[in-house]
Amino acid sequence: MSSTNSSIYKRVTVKSLIDMKANQEKISMLTAYDYTMAQILDRAGIDVILVGDSASNVMAGHETTLPITLDQMIYHASSVVRAIDRSLVVVDLPFGSYQSDPKEALRSSIRIMKESGGHAIKLEGGKEIKDSVKRIIAAGIPVMGHLGLTPQSIYKFGTYTVRAKEEAEAERLIEDALMLEKLGCFAIVLEKIPALLASRVANRLTIPVIGIGAGSGVDGQVLVVNDLLGMTNQFNPRFLRRYLQLNEQITGAVQSYIKDVKSQDFPSKEEQY
Ligand code: KIV
Repeated sequence: MSSTNSSIYKRVTVKSLIDMKANQEKISMLTAYDYTMAQILDRAGIDVILVGDSASNVMAGHETTLPITLDQMIYHASSVVRAIDRSLVVVDLPFGSYQSDPKEALRSSIRIMKESGGHAIKLEGGKEIKDSVKRIIAAGIPVMGHLGLTPQSIYKFGTYTVRAKEEAEAERLIEDALMLEKLGCFAIVLEKIPALLASRVANRLTIPVIGIGAGSGVDGQVLVVNDLLGMTNQFNPRFLRRYLQLNEQITGAVQSYIKDVKSQDFPSKEEQY
């Protein structure tokens, strides 16, 4: 199977992402949670695969990202890593695996790196996780930050609406982004914030800023792959562009299969031994 990607990067590393920003090449990132999907994305030429804790929603059917465990994230991440030739694989630290203290954060990150083979970890938050970020990076593990709408704090926010619309929250977000860069994070995700604020942050930082619902003035984009493919059809935020309507297509294919089984059209003579 050949890649459609014409990028000069044979293998994407954290350094490649920083180079891409310097060279004004936008970074493409999508989630994946399993071997088959990860292989398709990697062969298609995606730069970064995020094994997101959104697996809690799209794979397990939970209402929030909170229930997914570290063991489950490692299972998803190791399935993804086995499929990869080129993409950088970033793995989310799930809720409850890093918030207690920096030692717990480091232990969880080491488990992800050792047991899944992922290349970097991502965690949500700013000032409140400063010591954890420092400790993980000191151990040689690349860290991606995540600011703006941070779904692990959904019960604190109360809603999934746009964050940092007010000046005070926007200022805090800029300070957190600068702090994460200073600590040594290699990139930051900004989720669901005003486009103008996101581009201000991207312009202030030398590390890449990857947006989801953060407009076009950032250094790259990320979406949940199941949303992009139209497998989910009840989630319709403004920022989502659907490239396929797989929900309808899969439903149609399954209905055809059922009809063929019931009518004994399947299997035909050619489809048996
Ligand atoms: O878990 C996830 O899918 C994410 C993206 C939305 C950035 O964190």
